[in-house]
Amino acid sequence: MSASAIPQTVISRALRRTLGVFPTGVTVVTALGTDGHAFGVTVNSFASVSLDPPLVLWSQAKSSPSHDEFSRAGTMVINILSENQRDVSTRFAHPHPDKFEGVARSAAPCGTPVLMGCAATLVCRVVNHYDGGDHTIHLCEIESFEDHCRHPLIFCKGAYAELASA
Ligand SMILES: Cc1cc2nc3c(=O)[nH]c(=O)nc-3n(C[C@H](O)[C@H](O)[C@H](O)COP(=O)(O)O)c2cc1C
Repeated sequence: MSASAIPQTVISRALRRTLGVFPTGVTVVTALGTDGHAFGVTVNSFASVSLDPPLVLWSQAKSSPSHDEFSRAGTMVINILSENQRDVSTRFAHPHPDKFEGVARSAAPCGTPVLMGCAATLVCRVVNHYDGGDHTIHLCEIESFEDHCRHPLIFCKGAYAELASA
C-alpha cells in the first residue's frame, strides 16, 4: 500500500493487519512496582536477541497505562503462555482492577509473579530501554528459565490458534 493521499488511520489499520499475518507466541510480562504491587500485560512482540549473553526483548506502547511502571522495573518475568491460556491472555490485555484475581501464580525469588500453567518461564533482569517510535523496547537478560513442556499459544491474524501438530 502506498502512503500518499490515504488517511494515516487507514494506513495504520492496514499495516497492523499486514504485520498480523506473522504468527507469534503470546506472553504475559509481569513485574513489581516500587511499592510492591504486581502488574502484568499481554505481549506478542517478545523476541530472543542473543544466547551469550542471554538477551530477549519486548516492546510496549508508550500509550499503555502500565508503560511508566514497566520502564522503572528492574526485574521482569516473561510468562510464555500455553495453548489453554487464552483466558489469561485476554485478562492481561484489558484494563482490570486486579488482573491477577483468580489467576494461579507463584513468585520468583525476587517476588515478581510467575503465572502457573505456562509453556515456559523466563526470569529477567532489565538491562536497557530503547526508543522505538510509539513503543519502548525493553531489553532484558535472562537470569533463570524453565521449559514446562506444554504446547504454546499462537497468535496470528488477530486470532488465537494452536499448533496443528500438537
Ligand atoms: C495477543 C496480544 C498481544 C499484544 N502484544 C502487545 C505488545 O507486544 N506490546 C504492547 O504494548 N501491547 C500489546 N498488547 C496490548 C496490551 O496487552 C493491552 O494494551 C493491555 O491492556 C496493556 O495493559 P495496561 O493497560 O495494564 O498497560 C497485546 C494484546 C494482545 C491481545
